[in-house]
Amino acid sequence: MQADAPLYQTLADTIARSIRSGTLARGERVPSVRTLARQHGVSLSTAVLAYRRLEDARLIEARPRSGWFVAARPPALPEPETTQPPSQSQAVDLGALAAQVMQLAHDPTCISFGAACPSSDLFDGERVRRAVVRAAQRHRHTLAEYPSGPGHETLRRAVARHALGLGCTLDAQRIVITNSCLESITLCLRAVTQPGDVVALESPTYFGFLEILQNLHLRALEIPTHPRHGISLDALQLAFDTQPVKAVLAVPTLSNPLGASLPPAERRRLAQMCTTARVPLIEDVLYNDLAEQDDRRRAVKSHDTEGWVMVCGSFSKTVAPGLRLGWVEAGRWHAPLARLKAATSGGQTTMTELALADLLGQAGTEAAFRQLRATIAARVDEARSLIAQHFPRGTRVTDPPGGYILWVELPPAVCAIHLFRACLAERICIAPGTMFSATERYRHCVRLGVGGRWTDAHRTALQRIGVLAQRLQEDAPNEAPNEKTPQVSVA
Ligand SMILES: Cc1ncc(COP(=O)(O)O)c(C=O)c1O
Repeated sequence: MQADAPLYQTLADTIARSIRSGTLARGERVPSVRTLARQHGVSLSTAVLAYRRLEDARLIEARPRSGWFVAARPPALPEPETTQPPSQSQAVDLGALAAQVMQLAHDPTCISFGAACPSSDLFDGERVRRAVVRAAQRHRHTLAEYPSGPGHETLRRAVARHALGLGCTLDAQRIVITNSCLESITLCLRAVTQPGDVVALESPTYFGFLEILQNLHLRALEIPTHPRHGISLDALQLAFDTQPVKAVLAVPTLSNPLGASLPPAERRRLAQMCTTARVPLIEDVLYNDLAEQDDRRRAVKSHDTEGWVMVCGSFSKTVAPGLRLGWVEAGRWHAPLARLKAATSGGQTTMTELALADLLGQAGTEAAFRQLRATIAARVDEARSLIAQHFPRGTRVTDPPGGYILWVELPPAVCAIHLFRACLAERICIAPGTMFSATERYRHCVRLGVGGRWTDAHRTALQRIGVLAQRLQEDAPNEAPNEKTPQVSVA
């Protein structure tokens, strides 16, 4: 991981991890430059550069004539407030914006904060490559055989073992392997809804969910969501009581784009509410392994006693995005879901299934997750402090307990689409807030993904977004902000 990072950066990451884990407490003195250099066998200048990097990230601060100390948490900007979407469901018509943004987010000529994708240097590509080569050597005969059924037994068992870490005891026989988490979610929705049905989800929500709803002709009921504590269960209960909700689709851990995580007690309550209301919960656990605290990694599914929770996951964000494998345990809908899956896309490539099973079973996997969490935590700290320094007064930003997505609420006068265009003129890609709602809300919000490449050019670009937002705020006419969402032209 970070194999080609400069030595000072690797050292800075190591110290950042000690700070994040509490080994080095806030306010505590860190070793002198000389001691640090001796302890790690590096030159004095490398040790100084590492401390400078940590200082830039506001993780440590220099005190005159006393040395360096662990700083208080990076400067706090206020967080956004609980969202207030309309209480009626809506048909979904996303337009072309999300597809355009995603295309740009992966354009190598852009500095991208547009996607929620981790960059390849965050993964141990060599470990993945070796597993694929091993699978190709040992199981080459599988290429000449049609894969059938719900996925290779070995991977289903590996997923069941992995789910123990999410607090879930799953029967491997009831796990269905899919092509991705999104395929799992699509199958769940197809199993429990008909066109025209109402699906409740967080607001804002991942645009990929809205695209699925649109394709399946389902209506979105956006539920108020707190930026740290997630979907409001009181509002969801009200929706159950007053509307024909046919399914809930939620990301209880590190939701996209808010990065919210439901508190532990609320997880049990959500499982109970869905059981009592007899409404299936489609739980997306894609990001659970990125949560910093153990109790936030525990899935709602672990509280499911009667099979009302359909749990969906993949390893796109933690092991290797390119393996394209997901999984689902669909509770009481296991049999219809397995039939739907077989009729939709059959099985997956057995060889990659076996490579993934091999990777999941390796002793280093947990350690790799820990390292991934620490690296992105340091990065999120740095990004938040850059936002605090360079974005216009009145900006709010989330402080997610893990993951690499920040949701930034700009002052109301700043239109996110205008900001998107201004950034694009400088080949910087951001994701405007309206992509994350079926109701054209969040016009002055943007999602910034900081899990991609992270270089000095990215740090400068992040500052530049703040400057451009400031300029838009100053130029904004004195009228009710963003009454209409401007059309996007990315030409
Ligand atoms: C909440 C959520 N679920 C699912 C996905 C897609 O996962 P996969 O690549 O396994 O389909 C994403 C991707 O950003 C996501 O944010």
